[in-house]
Amino acid sequence: MKKLIAAASLCVASFSVQAAIIVPEHDVNAGKQIAETVCAACHGVDGVSPVPAQPNLGGQNVKYLYKQLVNFKSGYRKNGIMQSQVANLSQQDLANVAGYYASQKPWGVAFGNPATTQEATKLFLGGDKSRGVIGCAGCHGPDAAGNVWAAFPRLGGQHAEYIATQLKLFRAAGRVDDIDSDEQKRVNDAEKEGEMGMMQMVAAKLSDRDIRILSDYVSAIH
Ligand code: HEC
Ligand code: HEC
Repeated sequence: MKKLIAAASLCVASFSVQAAIIVPEHDVNAGKQIAETVCAACHGVDGVSPVPAQPNLGGQNVKYLYKQLVNFKSGYRKNGIMQSQVANLSQQDLANVAGYYASQKPWGVAFGNPATTQEATKLFLGGDKSRGVIGCAGCHGPDAAGNVWAAFPRLGGQHAEYIATQLKLFRAAGRVDDIDSDEQKRVNDAEKEGEMGMMQMVAAKLSDRDIRILSDYVSAIH
């Protein structure tokens, strides 16, 4: 029961943080120009990236995209490549380009790994109480399409390699005993100073194997 209450309050807290994101009015055509001139080399004009370390962006929800871009610009989310990409863009540019990629079709689909699909499905939908692993579907949706209102990202069809990297970055930050430098972590908003963000809490319980099978699994969902 305690665990259930904890899981429920986790969802509520996360909803309130993420739902508070407000994307300014944006111009999709202006965003398209930025995508074509600055972003396309790595993310594709339509938001389908050819390289597994570079995420697909097409059809990702606009609040989530905008938030990540603002986070890169402020240095809150650290990645050398992306921080330099947004350095010369205004808040309005970020909203425009987020709006453009969100308006594109969701990305293509990988094949996953049939050998671990069943195990991964269980973990994704229901977690594993015995190890404190929280299921993913409660926030990211049973079909991994995310939640536009709450700014929970779409995971379905994303590159498995990118997903695995992000889970490891969240896990590094969420581990109390971790001493890696900030550069190798992904921070995540907590309700209160000193607490962990939602994905840090979730990822802290994932083993390397969980990460591998979940990444393969979501990459194949559409
Ligand atoms: C030189 C390659 C490169 C270019 C150009 C580039 N990106 Fe990226 N982008 C990346 C990489 C690599 C990541 C993954 C960063 C990480 O692992 O945290 C990323 C991550 C992102 C993310 C986070 C997605 C998520 O699911 O959290 C967004 C949003 C994004 N880029 C948008 C853009 C936009 C908009 C532009 C153009 C203004 C752009 N990128 C230009 C390489 C690039
Ligand atoms: C309580 C809600 C919640 C649960 C449960 C949850 N997530 Fe998340 N997830 C989030 C939020 C919120 C973000 C966005 C964080 C941010 O804004 O940087 C996120 C982001 C992610 C990302 C980064 C996506 C990207 O494009 O960079 C991955 C990967 C991810 N989650 C995977 C999972 C997996 C796998 C599980 C289950 C083991 C899971 N999540 C469970 C709320 C949740």
